[in-house]
Amino acid sequence: MPFKGKRALVLGVANKRSIAWAIAKRLADGGAEVAFTFQGERIEKNVRDLAASVSSPLVTELDVRDDAAIERVFAEVGQVFGGKLDILVHSVAYAAAEDLEGRFTDTPRDRFWMAIDVSAYSLVATARAAQPLMAAAGGGSIVTMTYLGGERAVPHYNVMGVAKATLDSSVKYLAWDLGEQNIRVNAVSAGPVRTLAARSIAGFPTMESIVEERSPLHRHVDAEDVGAAAAYLLGDGAKNVTGTTLYVDSGYHAMGM
Ligand SMILES: NC(=O)c1ccc[n+]([C@@H]2O[C@H](COP(=O)([O-])OP(=O)(O)OC[C@H]3O[C@@H](n4cnc5c(N)ncnc54)[C@H](O)[C@@H]3O)[C@@H](O)[C@H]2O)c1
Repeated sequence: MPFKGKRALVLGVANKRSIAWAIAKRLADGGAEVAFTFQGERIEKNVRDLAASVSSPLVTELDVRDDAAIERVFAEVGQVFGGKLDILVHSVAYAAAEDLEGRFTDTPRDRFWMAIDVSAYSLVATARAAQPLMAAAGGGSIVTMTYLGGERAVPHYNVMGVAKATLDSSVKYLAWDLGEQNIRVNAVSAGPVRTLAARSIAGFPTMESIVEERSPLHRHVDAEDVGAAAAYLLGDGAKNVTGTTLYVDSGYHAMGM
């Protein structure tokens, strides 16, 4: 039971295909107590049902654009976990569908900032809110989800790539700030996984087939593979790993062609 006695908060479960759910399941199977947030009534029942299946002590609403909601959620987490938190999983991203279809050049100002707000600033805001609870636990581990499209131009990924670049850099600055309190911050860079968010990326099937054709392992990645990598980063086996990105993409990132 690698996570026995650990207290975790997981942001970003929408349904059973969500990467966040694969991670949460690993944590719960490993003995952690797992609290969940959901965004919007539309997915509330899904998340409540999944959370109940792992005997979650807390399921609460969170729109990461809302600072007051972040404050409320972390107060609730503090209450159910006796003022302590060991693990934060950030698996949240959003960009308008039209910005994942056309040219990046045409992204309007408001939707550019929205993508960065939801997909990158949310890590900064939630890490800051988690900090006192993790410090009270003697340290903690934070994992976020990124993609190669933040480092290289991937057709159609567009403004989400810019948001991931911001997220990747935020991981490093947070790792520096929070390391003092034994809080680690890392990212998993996943290859294409069929989820709700992935469906809004035009050309997603092409991304999948290119990985299959050109990656060293010539195969798809699934949410469970990503869950296993996140579990490593969240666990004590990674106690000296921070500010890093672990690629779970069949090796695609290593290729030049
Ligand atoms: N699926 C992939 O191929 C892939 C690859 C690399 C990285 N990722 C990243 O993994 C993470 C999880 O995505 P997923 O693929 O599991 O899809 P998903 O749709 O299951 O999860 C995305 C989550 O973001 C949440 N969200 C969106 N806007 C929000 C807001 N304002 N406040 C709070 N929550 C909000 C949604 O409710 C949803 O739960 C994202 O960061 C995504 O960019 C996915």
